[in-house]
Amino acid sequence: MKLLPSLLLCFLLEVLSISCQDTGLERIVGGYAPVPHSIKYIVSIQTMGRQHICGGFLINTYWVVTAAHCNIGLTNMLIVAGDYALTIYEGTEQQILPQLLVPHPAYNSVTNNNDLMLIKLTGPIQQNQYVSIALLPRQGATITQGRICRVSGWGYTSPVGGQIPSTLRTVKLPIVSTEKCNSSESFNGRITENMLCAGFTLGGKDACQGDSGSPLVCDGRVYGVVSWGIGCAEPQFPGVYTALSHFRRWIDDTILSYYSRCNNKD
Ligand SMILES: *[C@@H]1O[C@H](CO)[C@@H](O)[C@H](O)[C@H]1NC(C)=O
Repeated sequence: MKLLPSLLLCFLLEVLSISCQDTGLERIVGGYAPVPHSIKYIVSIQTMGRQHICGGFLINTYWVVTAAHCNIGLTNMLIVAGDYALTIYEGTEQQILPQLLVPHPAYNSVTNNNDLMLIKLTGPIQQNQYVSIALLPRQGATITQGRICRVSGWGYTSPVGGQIPSTLRTVKLPIVSTEKCNSSESFNGRITENMLCAGFTLGGKDACQGDSGSPLVCDGRVYGVVSWGIGCAEPQFPGVYTALSHFRRWIDDTILSYYSRCNNKD
């Protein structure tokens, strides 16, 4: 969803005859490889053909959070937890099929507002030394400008693609105020209250194509979900994230109503 170099990227990818979709093509730029299996809540969302599309993260053993624009359809989706190098079998992976996709009902693919989706898994993920659950902020919790957060993912390591070696990457970024991010020098009015910006004024570090849906973690809680941007790591254009503290109630209500519906059936 990162627009400008996205065109260039699409062109390059077309030359390489790889399909370039809006969905999820966003690897971490300017980051580093974390200690293997130290980020245990992250999952890779893949096609049934095992192509990584997006990131996501576990919020309990049956539910994953990702971006709504990562919705490739229930029948084409595979969730992989406990992974580190995507192309290498490490014996720590758990692959699970989704049972239900719940994109936010107010998701707008034009404005990217409410870019959030819940995925119910067909079976529980086993929590172990490679896989665990992420914590969410409470509804309405704020995160102040300048706070250092960390985003991780399997997306591109440079705006024009980067390499294939597919280990997880991570980068630390400061939160940018909505005022600055929404200003005419930056996103010029396209930032809603459901979005959060993070990055450096000079660019150089960012989420990129393939990182969509991945978690931005501040103070041990997931405050943001990689959503969109203009290019990757461009000066003046921080990454834009879905602000999870605006959706805590929706997440809790959606999961609760799923289980009450099930109970009423019997
Ligand atoms: C961003 O700017 C637009 C246009 O000025 C405004 O409508 C919108 O409310 C602003 N967003 C926030 C979160 O203040």
